[in-house]
Amino acid sequence: MTMMMRTSFLRRAAGFVVAAALLAPVPARAASTAKPDGKDLWSTHCILCHGETGAPGPQAAKLGVANLSLAKWQASRTDDQIRKIITEGKQDTLMRPFGDDLTKEEIDALVTYVRGLGKAAASKKK
Ligand code: HEC
Repeated sequence: MTMMMRTSFLRRAAGFVVAAALLAPVPARAASTAKPDGKDLWSTHCILCHGETGAPGPQAAKLGVANLSLAKWQASRTDDQIRKIITEGKQDTLMRPFGDDLTKEEIDALVTYVRGLGKAAASKKK
């Protein structure tokens, strides 16, 4: 009997921990001097539409998301253009502006990360 009560208590406690983790607010941006991590930022803000490698999934491709890992796309944009797109978004598309949510340093880290997607794809082909 006590054994059973204990199990159900533990189960409920475990459920609570999971719920608390899900409900926990995203921590405010730490005011740290650490360099922003492009990969982390990509996973948090961009991966949903642009995929892990910069190649959109089938649904995103239908929305006109370019394959950012392609050499052809990489060559078609300067770093400044990429920075501007991330900061200001593209009007009338799902690509929204991130300039209000991310710092300049974070956007720079994303530009570098987007460039890295092209390099990663190119080195895979070899
Ligand atoms: C809700 C979906 C969505 C999210 C989230 C998203 N994008 Fe986009 N992104 C798009 C779409 C759609 C386009 C294509 C817009 C067009 O050219 O029609 C795009 C285009 C782009 C382009 C290429 C634009 C061009 O002109 O070639 C870059 C670079 C880009 N996104 C970077 C990012 C980065 C970095 C993030 C995260 C900070 C991000 N995106 C988050 C939907 C998204």
